[in-house]
Amino acid sequence: MFADPADVRHRLDAVDYLVDDGLAMALFLASRLGRPLLLEGEPGVGKTAAAKALARALGADLIRLQCYEGLGVSEALYEWNHQRQLLAIRLAEARQEKLAEADLFTADFLLDRPVLRAVRHPGPVPPVLLIDEIDRADDEFEALLLEFLGEHAVTIPELGTFTAVRPPTVVLTSNRSRDLHDALRRRCLYHWIEYPAPARATEIVRRTVPGAPATLIGAAGAFVARARTLELDKAPGMAESIDWVAALTVLGVTDLLAPGLPATLGALAKTPDDLTQLTAAFPEGTP
Ligand SMILES: Nc1ncnc2c1ncn2[C@@H]1O[C@H](COP(=O)(O)OP(=O)(O)O)[C@@H](O)[C@H]1O
Ligand SMILES: [Mg+2]
Repeated sequence: MFADPADVRHRLDAVDYLVDDGLAMALFLASRLGRPLLLEGEPGVGKTAAAKALARALGADLIRLQCYEGLGVSEALYEWNHQRQLLAIRLAEARQEKLAEADLFTADFLLDRPVLRAVRHPGPVPPVLLIDEIDRADDEFEALLLEFLGEHAVTIPELGTFTAVRPPTVVLTSNRSRDLHDALRRRCLYHWIEYPAPARATEIVRRTVPGAPATLIGAAGAFVARARTLELDKAPGMAESIDWVAALTVLGVTDLLAPGLPATLGALAKTPDDLTQLTAAFPEGTP
């Protein structure tokens, strides 16, 4: 449990995740009110990392549901263990016993998937459930989550409703590749994560790439900031900044003036067009 937003900031800092005041407040309120938090932002701004860091800071288990097209109940919520059911039927037959249908749909034959696993987590610390990239799932999938998001409960038609004794901390992320239903948004607190401001970006890279010279981190940060003002297909996020500084550090350079460095831009650019643009912008990015 967090005492206040400053406590969130300190404890996340201790696991090397750096928040601004807005995100500290959002995480604090979500965890104290037991409400799901929907995090949106450009790819690579630290949405997934926020949920992972939150779990570490709380000493909680992280349960992760990566969303994808076609995701449904049996991968996200629960599934009946058909093999065990079949076995039970065969066993009953061999013993010449009769099995009622209800005998086959008990908790014994249930397989927990991430959402139900979070609901039935034995504690004592409630888990953090990360529902990652919800915008990748079909929009019908959102409807399957509404009961859970509103009531921390999962209803299984054959069995009844499971409600979490202690509500899990729920973080949903979206890259906004499509819009989400109002019904889902209404059940969540919301926070938009911006790219970190230069000072924080510098500190994030410093902690993530041990051995990177401060001058290099500064110069790379300035170039990445410039890159984000270009019309790129994929603006570089923190993940790309980190990769690039790691690449430059491996090469032993301390600034962007060494020859041949445009060849490292594959760490930042992810399409041929972006590579062309960034290569053209490169000399101007040097201090
Ligand atoms: N505020 C932050 N503090 C520490 N590291 C961060 C932060 N934001 C981003 N990162 C780093 O950037 C990487 C990419 O972030 P990620 O969570 O994968 O982005 P997203 O899920 O938004 O696409 C993470 O692995 C993490 O190392
Ligand atoms: Mg992510």
